Amino acid sequence: MRAVYQDRYGTPDALELREIDKPSPNPDEVLVRVAAASVHPDVWHAVEGRPAVLRLLGAGLRKPKNPVPGTDLAGEVKAVGPDVSTFEPGDRVFGGDIGGVLLANGGTYAEYATVPADRLAGVPEEVTLVEAGSVPNAGLIAYHYVHHLGEVGPDHHVLVNGAGGGVGSIAVQLAAGAGAEVTGVDSVDKLDFVESLGADHLIDYETTDFTAGDQRYDRLFDIAGNFSYSRCKRALTDDGQYFLIAHEHFGATGGRYLGYLPQAIEVILKSNWDPHLAGMNFSTPAEGEAMGFLADALASGDLTPTVDRTFPLESVSEAFRYLKTGAVRGRIVITV
Ligand SMILES: NC(=O)c1ccc[n+]([C@@H]2O[C@H](COP(=O)([O-])OP(=O)(O)OC[C@H]3O[C@@H](n4cnc5c(N)ncnc54)[C@H](OP(=O)(O)O)[C@@H]3O)[C@@H](O)[C@H]2O)c1
Repeated sequence: MRAVYQDRYGTPDALELREIDKPSPNPDEVLVRVAAASVHPDVWHAVEGRPAVLRLLGAGLRKPKNPVPGTDLAGEVKAVGPDVSTFEPGDRVFGGDIGGVLLANGGTYAEYATVPADRLAGVPEEVTLVEAGSVPNAGLIAYHYVHHLGEVGPDHHVLVNGAGGGVGSIAVQLAAGAGAEVTGVDSVDKLDFVESLGADHLIDYETTDFTAGDQRYDRLFDIAGNFSYSRCKRALTDDGQYFLIAHEHFGATGGRYLGYLPQAIEVILKSNWDPHLAGMNFSTPAEGEAMGFLADALASGDLTPTVDRTFPLESVSEAFRYLKTGAVRGRIVITV
């Protein structure tokens, strides 16, 4: 099969297509003919091997354990392992965190990929595979923070910092869908898009500092990570909650070795005594539950996927160059 392949960590500009063997599913896995896979900052991290700590955390010490990048997919089931009873050949499926380790290659930038069945959900009829392929990575993070950790509800005023990107565009929709009042922060070019997702208030980060205003928020989802926690705290209500999702802006912020880990550890340690951080922990999304939720939200129309642009498998380097421009609204998707 054709696959994007990397022998060593390095810039996505060096990624190339190769012919490699098609994988076979383990007993609990399905073999998927990949139609689409999203291009997002965590794939960039895994390809670059940066921050270096990800290599110790399971991505592969000297070179990527899995030479094929990509962490999520949408496609058609071609075969199932003997222990799988939830899917059968012909089913349209989507899912994320395929590698099982955050910031590691999961093998989805290829014609075929094997995936544990419990990380997948069926793609609703009204959604194309390209649209579905834009959802899993961003949707899993957004669901985890907005619903699982943040428990957002109708009484909350929610601020999403970085509202026009992959995670933010889904977080805004989930928070608005939960009945919350939503403020979206992003660059001025994306604010019309953020409004179309259901945000009630818009802030252009180039002209307005949300930490300096009078408005207070019950939930602050910090995807951009451009202000310190102590500064963001000023924008919280008395029982407001802060959630650091964090963005390293492709190496421009975040340390080479530890990335955002020190900031994450800081807020998680402080969560032991600071009530504004009570919801922060190192938990990761429960994929099955989250994918089921996202599938239902897509089917009901509560969640609209945003595919900014698609790139064919052979143009993966170009896709990363576009991702790094910051112009992307929602997600870009590799089509296979
Ligand atoms: N904590 C966790 O558990 C966890 C798990 C998985 C992933 N992550 C991280 O979560 C992040 C998810 O990001 P994503 O996929 O949504 O990235 P994305 O698609 O690149 O979106 C980020 C958005 O933030 C905007 N932005 C940049 N600077 C900003 C600023 N100063 N103020 C407000 N907005 C700003 C960007 O707009 P412009 O570029 O136009 O400025 C862009 O629209 C990734 O960095 C990933 O590593 C965290």
